[in-house]
Amino acid sequence: MAISICLINQKGGCGKSSTCFHLAGAFAAAGHSVLLVDADPQGSLSQGFLGSSFVEALPASQTLAALFVESCRFLNHRQLVRETSIAGISIIPANQHLAEFNVPCPERTRMMQFVLRDLLQQQHEYDVVLVDCPPNLYQCTWNALLATQQVLIPVNPEDFGAQGLRAVHQAIDHARQLNPVLRRLGHLVTRYDRRLLIHRSYEEQLRILYPHLVLQTAIYELNAYKVALACRMPVENYRAKTPAAAAMRELVEEIFLRLAAKEKRRIAG
Ligand SMILES: Nc1ncnc2c1ncn2[C@@H]1O[C@H](COP(=O)(O)OP(=O)(O)OP(=O)(O)O)[C@@H](O)[C@H]1O
Ligand SMILES: [Mg+2]
Repeated sequence: MAISICLINQKGGCGKSSTCFHLAGAFAAAGHSVLLVDADPQGSLSQGFLGSSFVEALPASQTLAALFVESCRFLNHRQLVRETSIAGISIIPANQHLAEFNVPCPERTRMMQFVLRDLLQQQHEYDVVLVDCPPNLYQCTWNALLATQQVLIPVNPEDFGAQGLRAVHQAIDHARQLNPVLRRLGHLVTRYDRRLLIHRSYEEQLRILYPHLVLQTAIYELNAYKVALACRMPVENYRAKTPAAAAMRELVEEIFLRLAAKEKRRIAG
């Protein structure tokens, strides 16, 4: 069965899209077919793979926004999936057309909150689905929470209060009422700089605040992630022998280990 993971956090720039982008490369290199869903009207993930002018020119009917557009409701949404230049990675792109549908009170929109779930239920051929969310908990993130099985929360080792983690966890609890299979995969420390005392102490604090819910793998602030992105390649495809690529492979391994441990606990009751 496919693994589906959404990456959420209200904080902008914490590395959601970058993690999705490079993690996709590591999953694909390990032999898994990956579907990326760009659920952010900023379209950063789509632009990373397809280029900004191409993505910005896409009509709503060829992006994730089609799920919300009345006149596109009866289109074959499987056509929204595009192959990328990287073998094993496909993407449903998004751009500015999604912005008007990313409303702040998604639950009031009744069936609209389930459009992504309905779409993903038709995607059987992928091993891994990763959904990149915008820096808020509006309709797009809400759809992702109702459509996936796991939540990964990229967190910068900085003031957690300012990052609104409490609201993130409340949203997950709330979503579980409508999507009971949803689980927390954990917090992923991103853009980490071990030389900074403040980063080390916040990381420690995060592990105390959320025992068992912080991944061992941390993603360091490394130039290779930026350079590979600029070359439109996950770092695994750009330079597999860099520490940046190794960290993404380590993250894939840890995700599988965590999921296996969860499954074992579920079976044991
Ligand atoms: N580990 C990292 N090392 C170096 N640069 C990084 C790293 N993670 C992210 N960045 C850079 O930081 C910027 C913001 O990252 P990214 O777009 O992934 O954040 P985001 O959480 O998706 O932002 P938004 O909330 O706006 O969607 C980008 O320029 C990205 O290349
Ligand atoms: Mg982003």
